[in-house]
Amino acid sequence: MITNKLSVSNRLAALPVSAIRKLTPYAAEAKAKGVKVYHLNIGDPDVKTPDVMLDVLKTWNQNPIRYAQSQGEPEFVNALLWYYHRLGHKFVQRSNIIATVGGSEACVMALFAVANPGEEVLVFEPFYSNYATCAAIMGVKLVPVPTSIENGFHLPDRQAIESRISPKTRALLFCTPGNPTGSVYTREEMDLLVSVAKDHDLFLISDEVYREYVFGGREHVSILSYMEQIPEQAIMVDSLSKRYSLCGARLGVFLTLNEAMIKGVTRMAQARLSGGLIDQFVGMQLTHVPDAYIEAVQVEYQKRRDVLYAGLNSIPGVTMARPEGAFYSMVGLPVKDSDDFCLWLLSEYRSNNETVMLAPGSGFYATPGKGTNEVRVAYVLNTRDLNRCVELVRDALNVYQQTRRS
Ligand SMILES: Cc1ncc(COP(=O)(O)O)c(C=O)c1O
Repeated sequence: MITNKLSVSNRLAALPVSAIRKLTPYAAEAKAKGVKVYHLNIGDPDVKTPDVMLDVLKTWNQNPIRYAQSQGEPEFVNALLWYYHRLGHKFVQRSNIIATVGGSEACVMALFAVANPGEEVLVFEPFYSNYATCAAIMGVKLVPVPTSIENGFHLPDRQAIESRISPKTRALLFCTPGNPTGSVYTREEMDLLVSVAKDHDLFLISDEVYREYVFGGREHVSILSYMEQIPEQAIMVDSLSKRYSLCGARLGVFLTLNEAMIKGVTRMAQARLSGGLIDQFVGMQLTHVPDAYIEAVQVEYQKRRDVLYAGLNSIPGVTMARPEGAFYSMVGLPVKDSDDFCLWLLSEYRSNNETVMLAPGSGFYATPGKGTNEVRVAYVLNTRDLNRCVELVRDALNVYQQTRRS
């Protein structure tokens, strides 16, 4: 127990370090020494933002830059409505939506909305590592339900899910298409989640920020297609970050038909006053983004997936499930401690003065000891660079295995 009155709070000190960013200082150090670092560790796409969203900035003429409305600027919310209606979900109304500061804020709001401190939320493991930090901030306990690389990180059976439900469980949190897994839940899997939620009176928080990135003719099944069945229970988290390569614009969505919840989340939104007015001015252009933009990006990510999947799987001892969507995969490596391997890549390993940065797998698990032989990769680089990354991983594993470390 820390007693010094000027010590930071125990809960602050206990927040987990970001699995994705924790090695950043080592990458910065390598770069300062002139080393080229390929970033496979973070999902910050190199894809260009649609022109129509950038061009509109040249027309900005409001001075001063005022607050946006707390729930979102009406024109931006209208653009979101247009988007959801076009997806076929005509029931969505303006009053069901809060425009958030990225999907990240929507995740925080969702966890705050469903659980009291000490209560539990089930999450399928491995999971997006910031869920752990958001849950820790809220004092909510994430209870992991394991999935495995062998079945492409798809859902386990009903019994495996139900066995983790306790009197304290309030919600199921999931992400489809999945970060970090690349799995896309089928309609049967979504049916299962909805059925479990119904039987046990649980909320469902569906993170769909990668909705458009689904490969090989698969269908993305949204929680929106169940919302009218379970209006009190379903919450959708969404974001424009990946869809339009707008990560820095901080545009997200919290969506539910639960009126009491929207009322409460509106109070949260009011307490932080507003999202970015200029960001929403950019975002409202989404109605003008040609379909060809998203289609081209889908094709590009599928190409990248194929390059990385073929490349990494050709390395002895490396296992990678074929991603069905998003732009991530958890990759099994022939190492005992991927934290050490990832650190070594940045601090010691060089090939032609180049190296590669990977995200250690353990940060995507809540179960101690899991993920220690895995890394998460994000294929947000062009195919030439991805091929180089595969070469670097192959060579680095060889060198690493010849030292004391493997
Ligand atoms: C699964 C998932 N959810 C939510 C987010 C939040 O994204 P943003 O805050 O940029 O909208 C991310 C970002 O990487 C993500 O991968």
